[in-house]
Amino acid sequence: AMEGSATNSHGTDDPLSKLPTREGWSEPLVLYKNYWLRPRFAATIMRLQNTFEARHDDIVLATNPKCGTTWIKALAFAITNRSRYEFGNHPLLFRHPQEVVPFLEIPRDGDMTYVETLPSPRLLATHMPLSLFPNFLATCGCRIVYVCRDPKDAFVSRWHFEKKLHREHSIDFEAAFNMFSEGFSPYGPFWEHCLEYWRESIACPNKILFLKYEDMMSEPVKHVIRLATFLGVPFSIKEEEDGIPEEVVRLCSFDKLSSLDINQTGDMVRRGNIIVEKSVFFRKGKVGDWVNHMSQEMGRKLDCIVEEKLKGTGFVL
Ligand code: A3P
Repeated sequence: AMEGSATNSHGTDDPLSKLPTREGWSEPLVLYKNYWLRPRFAATIMRLQNTFEARHDDIVLATNPKCGTTWIKALAFAITNRSRYEFGNHPLLFRHPQEVVPFLEIPRDGDMTYVETLPSPRLLATHMPLSLFPNFLATCGCRIVYVCRDPKDAFVSRWHFEKKLHREHSIDFEAAFNMFSEGFSPYGPFWEHCLEYWRESIACPNKILFLKYEDMMSEPVKHVIRLATFLGVPFSIKEEEDGIPEEVVRLCSFDKLSSLDINQTGDMVRRGNIIVEKSVFFRKGKVGDWVNHMSQEMGRKLDCIVEEKLKGTGFVL
């Protein structure tokens, strides 16, 4: 009965029905503990609170959506499994990066038990804000890698993603910009999401590795080496001499992954009128693409809003 009530959007004891709802994006979002979420993810996040069995050696890849989830999934998978596979015959040549690391709050085919069957150490992904982590997961000693990105590029990426997701009613760019700037976007406010993880990464650097998409782009090899060290599987001197970090960077690069047929054809999800094509996770993969979509004035406006929101925190996004 408990399970049913969380997913039944009409029942009176449905915890979702009590939450504020707002329309504007491709589907209405609910406000749960200061974050705007798609209703079914909110339901899963609530359910995970008390049911998720964290393991101390879990690795959680956490991101604000559109900030490099696909990339960090590929990188972490390639790094942690590097002794098992050859680069010329690697699983990432045959499977979409989104499929090699499961999302906690987006159970595949609705199966919540799937992640329980994975062998340790598990690689898991989430867009969940840190404050909504299931009990114990945040404190069990697991490692968390967080990736954030320039909000302007993340917004532009989001807008394109939503446009593809819901072809039949496209969202006006300015309207979407205003919603995002108000903090109203999936998993938003964007800056709050980043801030929570940043704070924790300062307090517990061994627990959270805080990365920025732009830094990873400008020095990918350095970041792959950092990532391996943080994940407890540092590259040996021999591996570095053999150019293994460079191999990882190449395999997981936007150009390589987006050129693969398996990442370009077919659908990831098909649910009602929502279709998530595999190719939608690879658009441009560039830093600063926002200039091609919004005016300098809009860019400055968003920068100012974010700066104002983060004033006094010590965190600069
Ligand atoms: P753009 O829309 O700016 O191109 P997420 O994976 O979190 O959904 O983020 C998607 C963004 O990451 C998209 O940005 C996408 O093109 C970019 N991306 C996907 N794979 C990448 C890779 N291997 N390297 C760099 N960026 C990548």
